[in-house]
Amino acid sequence: MSALATEHKAVNLGQGFPDFPMSSALTELVNDAMRNDFNQYSPMPGWMPLREAIAEKVEFLYNNTINPDTEITITPGGTYAIYTALTTVLQPGDEVIVFEPGYDSYIPNIVVNGAIPVRINLQFPEYKINWNEVRQKITSRTRMIMLNSPHNPTGAVLRAEDLQQLRSIVEGTNIIIVSDEVYEHIIFDDVKHQSILRYPDLAQRSFVCFSFGKVYHCTGWKLGYCIAPADFTKEFRKVHQFNCFSCHTPSQVALATFLRDRDSYLTLGSFLQKKRDYFLQLMKGTRFTMLDSKGSYFICAQYNRISDESDKEFAIRITKEFGVAVIPVSAFYQEGTDNKVVRFCFCKKDETLALAAERLSRI
Ligand SMILES: Cc1ncc(COP(=O)(O)O)c(C=O)c1O
Repeated sequence: MSALATEHKAVNLGQGFPDFPMSSALTELVNDAMRNDFNQYSPMPGWMPLREAIAEKVEFLYNNTINPDTEITITPGGTYAIYTALTTVLQPGDEVIVFEPGYDSYIPNIVVNGAIPVRINLQFPEYKINWNEVRQKITSRTRMIMLNSPHNPTGAVLRAEDLQQLRSIVEGTNIIIVSDEVYEHIIFDDVKHQSILRYPDLAQRSFVCFSFGKVYHCTGWKLGYCIAPADFTKEFRKVHQFNCFSCHTPSQVALATFLRDRDSYLTLGSFLQKKRDYFLQLMKGTRFTMLDSKGSYFICAQYNRISDESDKEFAIRITKEFGVAVIPVSAFYQEGTDNKVVRFCFCKKDETLALAAERLSRI
């Protein structure tokens, strides 16, 4: 959709990235790190002061003491952390419970390891997990459950009740959890992010994956990390050692300083909540029916008052004819389930959102 957006000079509310600059203080810190010659390989698990800053942050946010030496690994992005966690654990024939719609790397990552995705649809239109269905789909071969909250593409978030259900399901099993929490700070309406790290019994069976790109408006940096118990981390690093091995050093040096400023991540939720609300206000002038977004920088909408085309046809047509690129949500289902919903990314300048809404009001 981004290529189509460029071709048709469309406003791109498709792909998930900001169109405004990242913090100049952070770019200055990277420049300083380069000038001070932090330009060689960093240690395989990551730059220690950064791992220490992450451990402090996790203690502060989730009241969990993580050992930066043995339980945190810096990775080139969240997607890589997820891939590495899956490759660390999965054996051919293992079953992995995965929810749809979902971030597009999950199922290919399961399949490439010879494991079997056991797909469960989130309940439309709230995109909630049906925990009874999860119970029914657990077998003796279930090795893993993959979670993502706040959720791409829907903006749904897991609640404390969901985590209680999860706890009761996995108790007494050897099921491992991979929790994708790249949008941990992008959560709205005073809802608390239910990190797996808040629950020691769940954390001890989990790989929890994060992304600096999503927190600091620098998706192109591809820097993230994985938090997992020491025995899991030891195995995770065996995969990482002979794959990426070492991540970009100057960015890690810069983030080790920047992360200690708590406002740098604590203000993100309210910043994006304002953008969500601004976009919702603008979209009142269109015929789209907006769904709820409680987190992430995505919001979905039904277009049944406009057209009965498939979501893919609709997304392509509005990009070409009206100059706004969106993502058809069927793209996030293996079998293309089409609820006639498209996804907008609202992590954009206000003028970009206003221009998009003005064009969408003509449909
Ligand atoms: C749910 C989810 N996980 C992971 C990622 C990727 O993170 P990174 O760019 O750090 O690999 C994204 C990016 O869109 C995402 O939406």
